Amino acid sequence: MTKKKTILSGMRPTGKLHLGHLVGALENWVSLQNDFNNYHLIADYHSLTTNPDSSEIYQNSIDMLIDWLAAGVDPAKSPVFRQSQIKEHSELHLIFSMLITAARLERNPAVKEQVRDLNIENVTFGHLGYPVLQAADILLYKGDLVPVGDDQVPHVEISREIARRFNKQYKKVFPEPEPKLTSFARLPGLDGMDKKMSKSADNTVLLSDSPQDIQKKIRKAVTDPLKIRKNDPGRPEICLIFTYHQKFNPSETSQIDADCRSGALGCVECKMRVANRVTETLAPFREKRAHYENHLDEVKTILGEGEGRARIRAQTTMVEVHEAMAMG
Ligand code: TRP
Repeated sequence: MTKKKTILSGMRPTGKLHLGHLVGALENWVSLQNDFNNYHLIADYHSLTTNPDSSEIYQNSIDMLIDWLAAGVDPAKSPVFRQSQIKEHSELHLIFSMLITAARLERNPAVKEQVRDLNIENVTFGHLGYPVLQAADILLYKGDLVPVGDDQVPHVEISREIARRFNKQYKKVFPEPEPKLTSFARLPGLDGMDKKMSKSADNTVLLSDSPQDIQKKIRKAVTDPLKIRKNDPGRPEICLIFTYHQKFNPSETSQIDADCRSGALGCVECKMRVANRVTETLAPFREKRAHYENHLDEVKTILGEGEGRARIRAQTTMVEVHEAMAMG
């Protein structure tokens, strides 16, 4: 029997999740949970790298965890845990910080992008070290694979470099983790085809939205600007609503494609159809979410158990780390 590989997946606790998280991450996590050993990390310390205000982090972590559970993440199979509650993350982060240069971290495209918006004067030491903490997250559990979107690939590359460097400097302890890209391209937000769905852009459908909210939000979505009247011909390939049909209403896409192009189908009708399918997709989710919202003790127990299991795994790795460094 070959040993199952380990997957380490993580998200920063941004609060309630949206359809983009479902399509881009959660569906993938759930489909992988039988064939791999999975660890699901709530990266709460990472939230502090861009904003030290911690007042909402706990509540956002719980809201996000409820969405994970409602989407089908099974905590009996895969521990769910907060980074801040497993001290070994901080410890390994410290050791790793000696194994990568500041210059290399400054070249990280994700930081570069933020520096452009922020100005280097405002980038903290902790923010520069964001990928070093992420490397500790992954390698503490000896993650072989990391399910991420393409924006995270540079971070995973830094994890690989750090693993290689540690193994060479001391003794082989770590695998070199690989990104595992999701198959469905990222979901556009409601405000245009070229922007991804994100909380900060305020263009989301939340997994917890009511059917009325879903309808209201989708009704206002941007479509082909040249299709002004109902019978004008439209271009599905530039329409975000068509992308939603592809994802949530796959059996009707060819008909919708044809009817949009010919002008037989108007945008309002097209939007209502997709809103109904999204509502149907989210129905079981909404039910499970309501259960957890009414049983917060259960959610906290799940988190506590996950943290217990993760801690044991993390401590085992740290014993090996200290032995490899002859510091045990
Ligand atoms: N950087 C990830 C994000 O913003 C969150 C994250 C932190 C993560 N640690 C991780 C993702 C470890 C995967 C593995 O989405």
